[in-house]
Amino acid sequence: MIKKGIVLAGGMGTRMSPLTKAVNKQLLPLYDKPLIYYPLSVLMLAGIKKILIIVNKGQLSQFKKILPEKNNLGISLEYKEQIQPGGLPEAFTIGEKFINKDSVSLILGDNFFYGQSLTKILRKNMNLNTGAKIFVHPVKSPHLYGVATLDKNRKIIKLEEKPKKTKSNYAVTGLYFFDNKVVELTKKLKPSKRGELEIIDLLNFYKRKKRLKAEFIGRGGSWLDTGNINDFYDASNFISTIEKRQGLKIACLEEIALNNNWIDKKQIKIAADFYGKCDYSKYLYSLINE
Ligand code: G1P
Repeated sequence: MIKKGIVLAGGMGTRMSPLTKAVNKQLLPLYDKPLIYYPLSVLMLAGIKKILIIVNKGQLSQFKKILPEKNNLGISLEYKEQIQPGGLPEAFTIGEKFINKDSVSLILGDNFFYGQSLTKILRKNMNLNTGAKIFVHPVKSPHLYGVATLDKNRKIIKLEEKPKKTKSNYAVTGLYFFDNKVVELTKKLKPSKRGELEIIDLLNFYKRKKRLKAEFIGRGGSWLDTGNINDFYDASNFISTIEKRQGLKIACLEEIALNNNWIDKKQIKIAADFYGKCDYSKYLYSLINE
């Protein structure tokens, strides 16, 4: 059973400089909330209450202003710094103590997921004790991502990082579930040509042992890129369109906590006070004044 999750919110965000020179990318506004709210909401929707956020050295205080360890979300938040970006798998060695003897989920701090069946898909995969799981989604430009080639029975036959040519259109999204072996396996990884540890190499360890499975986030779900400024604004507009139409918020962390019965009305009020007079607080009040 997966009860712990890591949000990897490091990275220099170079592709979005100068916006990211002083502020971590994950704290930039994706429509009406900081980007990090979205991946965090995914872990919370999955029912995960123990969360480690990994941030760049020197940026801890920025994050703690928005997400204090003593938060109003009914979850336990811990922080660790990544001294120098050395690749995604570093999350597991930085988080070794946090993971301890458990399975763990990893979500990249800039990944946006949305869809009616998302919670259901997540919850049905939580029961992982051995092996690893990736979540794949069809995209038009798979060469920008990790790519999974699957056979008729949806078995993974090939995994490649940003291949120039591929027949598969299934991108490997930035959400991963791993058993406890992940820490030990990460320590065996060697840096790639670009000098970093690669998540695809880690996944290939599991694949070779026939312990890697893929779950689908099909066309009714959305996985949006926030990697460059145009994609970032597209994702922002997507959220704005849906929120304005429905009058409901995507990734309102307190709402998810309330729905999970992790907090009650009192904590919603404290959270509204914490944010101050703003639309987000108005929305929080609307949740308890119905
Ligand atoms: C990373 C992974 C890639 C994955 C992607 C998802 O790429 O290496 O396999 O598809 O995240 O967001 P990056 O965005 O770091 O280039």
